[in-house]
Amino acid sequence: MTPFGIRKKLKSLLGGGAPPAPDAPPRPSWDVKVTAPDGSEYTVKGKEDETLVAVTGRGAYPIMTGCAEGDCGTCRVEVITGMGSLSVETDREQRVKEANKVDPALRLGCQVRINGPGVHLRVFDPFADAEA
Ligand code: FES
Repeated sequence: MTPFGIRKKLKSLLGGGAPPAPDAPPRPSWDVKVTAPDGSEYTVKGKEDETLVAVTGRGAYPIMTGCAEGDCGTCRVEVITGMGSLSVETDREQRVKEANKVDPALRLGCQVRINGPGVHLRVFDPFADAEA
């Protein structure tokens, strides 16, 4: 056991769990377009069931996180297209957004998992864009 459950938090943040069996088929993956706070765009691969935090972490502007457990509301992200290719919003996500005064139209990147194509996200800089 690691202090403060850091290993569990890192696995959660990275969208991981137990590694796949050696003969398991590869997880499907899709291109995810990301618009950065400076307006630039990049595309990364998102594997099935990964969190948006994990997916954007492969690019130049990862979603900023605070807790990675769905408690703080720091990881807000705008879904421009592809909402149907993401996990549905849970009661917990709604409660955390309300408690942290997050725009209801935004999602929490550490709680949302990808499960299909056509996703385009806008990532915010929480230090420069206090209104996000
Ligand atoms: S990082 Fe805290 S709610 Fe996502």
